[in-house]
Amino acid sequence: MVQFTLPKNSTIGGGKEWPKPAGAAQDNLREYKIYRWNPDDGKNPSIDTYYVDTADCGPMILDGLIWIKNNIDPTLTFRRSCREGVCGSCAMNIDGQNTLACTRAMDEVEAGAIKVNPLPHQPVVKDLVPDLTNFYAQYASIEPWLHTTTATPQKEWRQSPEDRAKLDGLYECILCACCSTSCPSYWWNSDRFLGPAALLAADRWVKDSRDEATGERLDNLEDPFRLYRCHTIMNCAKACPKGLNPSEAIADLKLKMVERQV
Ligand code: SF4
Ligand code: SF4
Ligand code: FES
Repeated sequence: MVQFTLPKNSTIGGGKEWPKPAGAAQDNLREYKIYRWNPDDGKNPSIDTYYVDTADCGPMILDGLIWIKNNIDPTLTFRRSCREGVCGSCAMNIDGQNTLACTRAMDEVEAGAIKVNPLPHQPVVKDLVPDLTNFYAQYASIEPWLHTTTATPQKEWRQSPEDRAKLDGLYECILCACCSTSCPSYWWNSDRFLGPAALLAADRWVKDSRDEATGERLDNLEDPFRLYRCHTIMNCAKACPKGLNPSEAIADLKLKMVERQV
């Protein structure tokens, strides 16, 4: 029987329990259990426990993380920018689900500790920051811009409202990586399978009435891994915080592959 052994430094230790904030009412405290890993100290990852004074803090999980950083532990490291669910930087695994920390409220997580981990199956840069180099390279590989061969119009590339509507459900992607990092096929083959986010973007450009490189775009996906490693497990659609459905986009690409053969 195959035996898998985790590298020694992947074992997660108990971590530190930080003191409860002085003066906070017990009823207002919310416990956070947060993954910590510092590449510079040579130690294994750990789970630290913090207590947030919700009376002194906004309602979202990201508000709690910022509160911890400002009031308890300035070394806690995570990405965030817009705080409005539009930049995709604060994607992390919260209570076992990939989502955006800025749009998930503390109240949405059942009583008990809020467990916060980095997005799964990506190398960790530090604490809650995943290394998304491969994810972005895959996005770049689908060439997410308009390809045309006809002369550029004097004013603009025109598109009818009906054709523009075909991009709904695709253009809204914020590249947070919640979908790709929740996909089992991507976990095991992220070096060769493009993953749901890049494929949703590929479908967005294939569907764009102004784009004139549909054939080349499909050629680029004609490969046993890049597209066809999707087994329609649908984790991606469940994880997407913007309500998008990458598995549907992937099915559409597969259909287009078949249609052009007949
Ligand atoms: S539907 Fe495809 S891309 Fe989405 S989670 Fe499943 S295998 Fe991954
Ligand atoms: S499809 Fe959804 S989950 Fe995937 S990267 Fe785009 S916004 Fe994030
Ligand atoms: S901070 Fe921009 S999406 Fe959360």
